[in-house]
Amino acid sequence: MPVLALAERVSLVTPEEYLALRVFIENKDKYEYLPKNILKDRLGLSSREVDTILTKLRTVKAIDTERISGEIMFKITFTGIDILAIKSLYAKHVVKSLGQSIGQGKESSVYYGYDFNGELIAIKLHRVGKTSFKNVRKLRELRREKSWISITLDNALNEFSALQCVKSNFGNVPSPLGYAFNAVTMEFIEGVQLAHAELSKPSEVLDKILATMRIAYTYCKIVHSDLSPYNIIISTNNEEPFIIDWPQAKHSDINLYRDIKNILDFFYKKYKIEHNMEKISAYVKGES
Ligand SMILES: Nc1ncnc2c1ncn2[C@@H]1O[C@H](COP(=O)(O)OP(=O)(O)OP(=O)(O)O)[C@@H](O)[C@H]1O
Ligand SMILES: [Mg+2]
Repeated sequence: MPVLALAERVSLVTPEEYLALRVFIENKDKYEYLPKNILKDRLGLSSREVDTILTKLRTVKAIDTERISGEIMFKITFTGIDILAIKSLYAKHVVKSLGQSIGQGKESSVYYGYDFNGELIAIKLHRVGKTSFKNVRKLRELRREKSWISITLDNALNEFSALQCVKSNFGNVPSPLGYAFNAVTMEFIEGVQLAHAELSKPSEVLDKILATMRIAYTYCKIVHSDLSPYNIIISTNNEEPFIIDWPQAKHSDINLYRDIKNILDFFYKKYKIEHNMEKISAYVKGES
């Protein structure tokens, strides 16, 4: 089969195959590889019917197989989770269609999409572990036996919740539109990363970034924790900053100081705007 775009793979998966993929997610922390019997019992299908489903899911690369002690076992892939997420967001009337890839991040793939009103949206598909095995191993130790699937799904939910809270308190983030499995959908921001922007009013942009960090800290009790000039998009039409990429957000003063330092260093180096770290920290923490 030629290399298929994700949208094509999504359209090839039938409702029955979708239900089979869900069984993999239901068992995510019990089995790394699923034996066929579990699928058969859970779906109430014959052995041959299950075989047909599994063959098809393998063809679209939604599952992988492995022979373990003589028995063929099955494992859902990132593509399989992506397919579940997109189908579910379609059913929820969040995503009408999936477009081309915007970019591959360290721990996600971001796609263009359209909602049911024909508006352009961004669809972020989390893929923890894709290139960060070390990170995952660390997380696994911390959380004991959580699977890579659970970690991925937790990250998507954490990002969506952060966007919801910050947006509903009028912070500068893309409006979240919906969430399912490993996918977070949000308003598409037409713009460039702060690192590559030439700002005409840098002080105003900095103030809005700090105000958003303050909202996150004081109302949502979270710190972005990976804030940099690459995770802020400056909109082309009105030079508005939008802070993106929130999966690792959590309450941590150490991370807060690092985030503030990254931003203040950048504005000092590029725009010669000087600020006192202590004063800004107190402001962001809501103490002044
Ligand atoms: N709402 C959005 N509107 C427009 N573009 C977006 C949006 N969200 C993400 N992007 C694009 O996708 C890229 C990656 O997104 P994000 O930073 O959230 O993911 P990531 O996995 O952390 O990627 P990276 O490793 O590059 O930081 C962004 O730099 C941006 O170009
Ligand atoms: Mg990023």
